[in-house]
Amino acid sequence: MDTIFNRRSIRKFQDKPVPIELLNKILVAGQIAPSAKNRQPWKYIVLGNEHKKEFLNAMEVGIQREEQGITKLPKSQHGIPDAKNTLKIMWEAPVVIAVINTNAKSPFLPTDNDERFTELCDSLSIGASIENMLLTAEELGLGTLWIANTCFAYQELTTYLDTEQQLICAIAIGYANENPKQRPRKMLSEIVEYWL
Ligand SMILES: Cc1cc2nc3c(=O)[nH]c(=O)nc-3n(C[C@H](O)[C@H](O)[C@H](O)COP(=O)(O)O)c2cc1C
Repeated sequence: MDTIFNRRSIRKFQDKPVPIELLNKILVAGQIAPSAKNRQPWKYIVLGNEHKKEFLNAMEVGIQREEQGITKLPKSQHGIPDAKNTLKIMWEAPVVIAVINTNAKSPFLPTDNDERFTELCDSLSIGASIENMLLTAEELGLGTLWIANTCFAYQELTTYLDTEQQLICAIAIGYANENPKQRPRKMLSEIVEYWL
């Protein structure tokens, strides 16, 4: 419970590498998560050094393209400043993990109802796996940021990763250089209905 309550999204990182042994512990926690039909539809690409640089350069190109109005997400233009801020944070983090849904294709391709439900289940499974990883990182003294702003550079990033599978999000990991207070949460009464 302490780990759950103490975890925060970290947006400032120290310039200090993360030992590979700790990354492995975090990934094992992700591996052990429950998943729909035990499909384990996740793949984690751990990017550091030059690879992180190339990934983030691709993200920058995508965000710039969106900003110039060559947009694939026209209703999400208001999110561009936040995406730019997220990119800045990712440059600071020593490690970025690209998270792939191995059972899904690009969200820009058409889908049907069956595929949509399968994708919902797989996304839930991947979310469980990621939360295991974030909590393990917290326990190991590391800070994390869960990142969905990769969506603004979807094409650029999947081309860089050379995959047709779905890039669902990314995770930045490193030693925290800030100690944020707990962010506001809705009241329990707003989010729960007891039908006892
Ligand atoms: C699926 C998902 C995507 C997120 N994407 C981003 C992101 O792209 N950039 C960012 O700064 N924070 C991102 N966050 C972090 C949320 O803003 C954060 O979890 C929320 O504000 C609550 O703060 P806390 O994590 O410190 O409790 C994301 C969180 C989740 C769960």
